[in-house]
Amino acid sequence: MPSLIEQLDGAFRAAIVAAFGAESDPLISVSQNDKFGDFQANAAMGLAKTLSESTGQKTHPRAVAQKILDHLDLTGVASETSIAGPGFINVRIRADHLAGELAKAAADPRLGVPPAASALRVVVDYSGPNIAKEMHVGHLRSTIIGDALARTLSFLGHEVIRQNHVGDWGLQMGMVTYAMETTADSEELTLGGLETLYKRISRATEDPAVRRQMAERTRELQRADKSDLPNWKRVRDLTLAAAHAMYRRLDVLLTEADVRGESDYADRYRDLIDRLVASGHAMETAGALGLFPPGFTNKEGEPRPFLIQSRDGTYQYPTFDLAALEYRVKTLGARRLIYTHDARQAEHFAMLFAVAGLLGWDRTDGGAVSFEYAPFGTMLGEDGKPYKTRSGETVKLAALLDEAEQRARAVVDEKNPEMPEEQRRAVAHSVGIGAVKYADLSKDRISDYVFSWDRMLSMEGNTAPYLQYAHARVRSIFRRAGERGIEATGSGFVLDSPQELALAKHLLRFGDVVAAVARELKPHHLCNYLYELSSRFSGFFENCPVLQSEDPARSSRLRLCELTARTLASGLDLLGIGHPEQL
Ligand code: ARG
Repeated sequence: MPSLIEQLDGAFRAAIVAAFGAESDPLISVSQNDKFGDFQANAAMGLAKTLSESTGQKTHPRAVAQKILDHLDLTGVASETSIAGPGFINVRIRADHLAGELAKAAADPRLGVPPAASALRVVVDYSGPNIAKEMHVGHLRSTIIGDALARTLSFLGHEVIRQNHVGDWGLQMGMVTYAMETTADSEELTLGGLETLYKRISRATEDPAVRRQMAERTRELQRADKSDLPNWKRVRDLTLAAAHAMYRRLDVLLTEADVRGESDYADRYRDLIDRLVASGHAMETAGALGLFPPGFTNKEGEPRPFLIQSRDGTYQYPTFDLAALEYRVKTLGARRLIYTHDARQAEHFAMLFAVAGLLGWDRTDGGAVSFEYAPFGTMLGEDGKPYKTRSGETVKLAALLDEAEQRARAVVDEKNPEMPEEQRRAVAHSVGIGAVKYADLSKDRISDYVFSWDRMLSMEGNTAPYLQYAHARVRSIFRRAGERGIEATGSGFVLDSPQELALAKHLLRFGDVVAAVARELKPHHLCNYLYELSSRFSGFFENCPVLQSEDPARSSRLRLCELTARTLASGLDLLGIGHPEQL
């Protein structure tokens, strides 16, 4: 079903065509202050300017607004329209129209959210841990944000292909396998042990001779058959087993089937490079091979290459990504490629996309392909510096999640001492993991954010526990109704009080917000929406008795409760956050 904004958009577009004979975006938005209306159309100012320019006569925006209103047909939808300020058009929606729209949303398993008009095959590239290292907090953001985006896009009907581009074919591989071969007790390797080996060899590569040796080795491995690399396979298996345990714990969708990392394109690199050299796109530059996408220069202002083979003959991060991009476009047939990675990789992705454009890989027979980089900032400690342990080490993800669950457990124990042990453990998991994920998702991903246990686990404010608690509280109304034998009758909504109207209007915005998340790749819009939904629900619940009222108000209010609970649950699902029945 079209949202209220879409309905208004349609009506205003028609009015503008009827009034001025030309199409124009009516610029509908939700009113900041609902004193004058619920929505506003802001097109009159721009239209007046265009008209003044084309006729050479000053046209007043308020006159334009009036002319739009003269042609506007919102019968049955709006109760009131008015012009304000320089030429804003305010619209108030009729309560019975809101009630009708709510009834449609309530009857729809998708809560009235239509699937996207054109469903696309979309690749979401996220997580991407490197071999021989435990995942650390740096991988947390990519994993969580990417997962929320993958969920949201699938909900909108897109065909999402998750791609975990693990870093398993670079210098690290050469170094770690070398360290294993030269260490006596490498039989008993754990991931922690591997990391120690890796650190040791990293220090050794401060010596240029060792560094050359490692590059040479890596070059050989990159040309070898993977089945001849048992140590590499061991390291990879160990790393991925730990990563998948982490994904399960985080309730992230990534599985073994989504892993397609650097080594998965191993047999394509030679051919890729040969083709690019043959076509004249890749050229020699200081002993290396690179492409020169327009617009990229180094500090000296000289063209900057995107290196697909370095001087020492090894394939590099750009090589891996270029092969992966070609595969995603040509073999997977994706029309939208989304990369959720650290803002520090901005230059790399900008060059990658520019190179793909240069090669014509941004078009297929099916249509244009869009490349989108959804970067995120750094997770900071409360001291404002990158989040580290007290001794200055990077924080291991597993340790972080242990602490989250322990802290959540303390909250649950306090709130609900009589809950059975098993359930308490499950709730602590949902709350602890949910708090960590939500703290990350609720900030605009572009900015750095400060990781604070107290804030993220607080029952007040824009946090997962607050939303989970709000959801559980609504569900508890139904348990109480059940105990008293109360059930909603009929199917309609009656909206009288300002709080009911405020809640109704917000419920009907769910689809617009989900679409905005998918368009802008920003889950925090949904977080803000859910937080506001909980606040409006509180306002409603404090002012409008539900079980104590008489029908038809009681049934309508029960339905408002139910739609709120379903919307909260569905929104939390899109974020990958649990919503226990009881907290
Ligand atoms: N392995 C990389 C890292 O740890 C992330 C991979 C990102 N994905 C990509 N297609 N480059 O930083």
